[in-house]
Amino acid sequence: MSILTIRNCLDPVLRRKCGVIQNIDERLVTLSADMIETMYECVGVGLAANQVGESSQLIVVDMGFGTDKHDPVVIVNPVITASEDEEIDQEGCLSIPDIFADISRFKRVEAKGVDLNGKDVRYEVADYLARAFQHELDHLNGKLFWDMLSKVKRDILKRKFKKKIKEMKA
Ligand code: NI
Repeated sequence: MSILTIRNCLDPVLRRKCGVIQNIDERLVTLSADMIETMYECVGVGLAANQVGESSQLIVVDMGFGTDKHDPVVIVNPVITASEDEEIDQEGCLSIPDIFADISRFKRVEAKGVDLNGKDVRYEVADYLARAFQHELDHLNGKLFWDMLSKVKRDILKRKFKKKIKEMKA
C-alpha cells in the first residue's frame, strides 16, 4: 500500500465529472486500499478518487468517524437516493487545506452503490457522516464545497487558499 498525493483544488481533474466504473479490477482494488491509507494519513473522513487524480466514480469513507475505531468502506458508483432535513456546519476539504466554511447539507442521507465485489450496498448515515457522503459525491461531479457559497465568500476563500499555497511553496 502507498500514500497517494492529494490534488489541490486548482487541478482540473477536480472539476471534471468522474466516469462510471464498468468493471472492478485489481488496479481498482489497489487504488481503494491506497485511498484508505491516504485518508487516514491525512486525517480525513472521506476521499474521492479524483482527489488522487483518478477520474472514476469511487469514494472511501470512514464509517467509524466519531468512534475510536476505523471502519473504512469503499463505494463504487455511489448515488444519494434519499435525503432529509438540513443543517449548517463547518466543512473543509483535503484538496483545499486549512480553509473552512459553514455549509448547509442534508442531515440524513441514504446512499447506494456497489462494493469491490460488485455487490449492492446501501448506507443510511446522519450528521457528520451524511455531510461527508454529500461532500465526496460532489467531488465525483466536479464540485467543491465552496461552490455552495456566494461568489463574494468564495472569492475571499480562494484568495486565502492561493496565499496559503504560495507560503507553502516559499
Ligand atoms: Ni473534499
